[in-house]
Amino acid sequence: MKNEKKGFARAHTNIALIKYWGKANNELILPANDSISLTLDKFYSDTYVTFSEDLTENSFFLNQIPMPKKSMKRINHLIDFTKRQYNYSGFAKIQSYNHVPTSAGLASSASGMAALAGAVVSALDSTGDLTNISRIARLGSGSASRSIFGGVVHWHRGHDHESSFAEQIVSEKEIDLNMITVVVDRHQKKVKSTHGMAQTVATSPFYSTWVDEANRAIPEMITAVQNNDFTKIGELAEHSAAMMHATTLSANPAFTYFAPETIKAVRLVHQMRSTGIECYFTIDAGPNVKVLCRTQDITRVHNFLAHEFNEQQLVVARPGSGIKFTKN
Ligand code: DP6
Repeated sequence: MKNEKKGFARAHTNIALIKYWGKANNELILPANDSISLTLDKFYSDTYVTFSEDLTENSFFLNQIPMPKKSMKRINHLIDFTKRQYNYSGFAKIQSYNHVPTSAGLASSASGMAALAGAVVSALDSTGDLTNISRIARLGSGSASRSIFGGVVHWHRGHDHESSFAEQIVSEKEIDLNMITVVVDRHQKKVKSTHGMAQTVATSPFYSTWVDEANRAIPEMITAVQNNDFTKIGELAEHSAAMMHATTLSANPAFTYFAPETIKAVRLVHQMRSTGIECYFTIDAGPNVKVLCRTQDITRVHNFLAHEFNEQQLVVARPGSGIKFTKN
């Protein structure tokens, strides 16, 4: 094939400790507030890209299933943007594999779009720098910009494409922070995060307070992470999640991601804390609850949760590494 270029990348998923919730610019996916996340070890996407001047359009296969054309908008945007940057005119065939167990209840768009950005850039530029890949991943999904780096990561909201990118605060080896996901409901009909945040920005009278509070928490969280101060990290993360979900209840029409079992898991977290097991919760755009704990407490937290939920509903994850361009 003519002028063929190949790339590969593996990226892990991440969960926000200070949430991204709402855009300042929909086209470039510039967020209204900075966010901070933890990259997770077990869950990742592997993506292979082949560019060729013989192809006439981009195609994307997720776990070998072709993506319908109408769902290719952001993928095409990401690829077109990168092609312009590297002055290349062919099209891409992409094969992506998600290693995020369906039972884990974790979003795969962050790892998927991060791996896509990494594979596309590595095909067109063998020296592609990670900050540029983070910016490009952002065009696929905001949270993907953070999945380029391991450990705890800060996404600077910025004010244009150049200034909105993520960077590592501490590596996965420097932080004692684990996450047990309680999968309370796999089947609940979802309001996608993209739509949920847009509705919130447009209608919640609390939205500007959310933005101010999230940005105010950022330097506090950075200090807590640098000091490995689990208590402070947990308190800030829990508060950020609670505030984000308060904005959905104040949207018009109001909506919530909580299911009855979500509240049950939150209460168990409070109960554990009152009995001296230190842990905190965070919740994303879905009903599952992620419980943060130190390594020394993983077994105790897991066993406590296992009284009320079955083993298959509990998924333990540890801090994960940044993007890789080879499989090993
Ligand atoms: C609640 O990154 O999925 O998980 O940028 O529209 O693709 P788009 O949204 P997405 O939103 C993630 C929202 C969140 C919080 C977070 O990850 O920071």
